[in-house]
Amino acid sequence: MPERTCLVTGCAGFVGSHLAERLLALGHVVVGVDNFFSGRRRNMASFAGNPDFHFHECSITEPDLLPRLRDEHPNLSQVYHLAAIVSVPYSMEHEQETMTVNWEATRTLHDQARELDFGKFVFAGSAAEYGDATALPLKEEHATDETRQLSPYGRAKFLSSRHIAEGGFGASLRCFNIFGPRQDPSSPYSGVVSIFMNRSIAHQPILIYGDGTQTRDFVYVSDVVNAYLLAAGITGEGQLSGIYNVARGEETSIVGIAMQARAIAGSTAPIDFTLPRPGDIHRSLADISRLRAHGYAPQVEINHGLRQTMAELQREAEEK
Ligand code: UD1
Repeated sequence: MPERTCLVTGCAGFVGSHLAERLLALGHVVVGVDNFFSGRRRNMASFAGNPDFHFHECSITEPDLLPRLRDEHPNLSQVYHLAAIVSVPYSMEHEQETMTVNWEATRTLHDQARELDFGKFVFAGSAAEYGDATALPLKEEHATDETRQLSPYGRAKFLSSRHIAEGGFGASLRCFNIFGPRQDPSSPYSGVVSIFMNRSIAHQPILIYGDGTQTRDFVYVSDVVNAYLLAAGITGEGQLSGIYNVARGEETSIVGIAMQARAIAGSTAPIDFTLPRPGDIHRSLADISRLRAHGYAPQVEINHGLRQTMAELQREAEEK
């Protein structure tokens, strides 16, 4: 079945590892690429030994990556491109490197996939493409050439999504605040959920930047994986083309996340407040009707997702 061999770039990352795991469970052959810049080998623990998983430790900036992988895996015909420099602050300090990895390598992979007649291409876009756009809920058309992206990360993701949409081949998924197991809680740039969960498990105080009324549109990682499968046409009516927001379409306040994290972990440590983080946006909310029209429906409630995340972090803590 030639159409069942997929490339997942960033397969050792937070979302990429969940996607690879699901594709394998559905009977696909997965060719995984990661250079461990931010990915972790242990994220692949549940599937690294699967005979249908073929791992290549290399960079997506390798000029002839896709032709080489196609030579080695002649049935390769789908690309899920998630590998990227994922830290926004890092991108501010390493602009050229970010543009090379997050934009130029994406363009090359997309162009090569088309030249090689791949059937599917799905890309990890980002809510950061909306930059300082403030009209809520955010619709896909709100990110335009005039939008001021606030970081090289956001700019590179925007250019990539536009390239894919204009090329009429494949889909870009603009994901909002993804959370769930395997999100690295140890970096200062980690997502707020993993930080709050980690601190609550350790019965340490939570630190909120600002008054905690700021909101984000959080989406659980399995719902993001569902969006990838839908965009690729593995579920639903066929490969989607263009740009799609992926979120729950709901605002949750940061103080609300803090309270839930403490309650789930049984922590009585305080919630402390400090100055707002420079450059923080106050509210974020996605309009997800474009993907909904193709059958997308987020399944996992925030509280349930938080419990799942907590259970996984506790397991990890016990293993240490
Ligand atoms: C995300 C990026 C951020 C980028 C922004 C703009 C991540 C992890 N962060 O931020 O680098 O500038 O998009 O597109 O991808 N918070 C706390 N306490 C903490 C950690 C966070 O109060 O310990 C607050 C933040 O100030 C923010 C909210 O929680 O208001 C969410 O933070 P975060 O998870 O970093 O996501 P974004 O703000 O969306």
